[in-house]
Amino acid sequence: MSFFIPEPYCWDESFKTFYEQIDNEHKGLFQGVFNVARTPKSQICLDGLNHVMQYHFANEQALMETANYHLRKEHTAIHNAFLDRIGKYTVPVGIADIQYCKDWLVNHIKVNDFKYRGML
Ligand code: FEO
Repeated sequence: MSFFIPEPYCWDESFKTFYEQIDNEHKGLFQGVFNVARTPKSQICLDGLNHVMQYHFANEQALMETANYHLRKEHTAIHNAFLDRIGKYTVPVGIADIQYCKDWLVNHIKVNDFKYRGML
């Protein structure tokens, strides 16, 4: 399933998980992708994107672990595959790679993250 990709690329209420910490971190992920899209030659922006993703995934995985969420292993594998991919990005980040991040984040939140709503 493919969802509408916001442009300009920023979080909106359609991405709400109803967990304040997670929603705030998700806003930072959108900002991280936005920064790379705006400044694809910036190593600082690319490093920042990797950092916010790693930070958020670790926190989200900890919450899933604490809740004994039944899909936590599959969800973690999806995170890791994404981190592997963007960890190989180099500057200048290409348009296709930026678009991949935009699509991935929107679809990941609405497909995978939404599955844990009410369970963490
Ligand atoms: Fe909010 Fe699974 O990333």
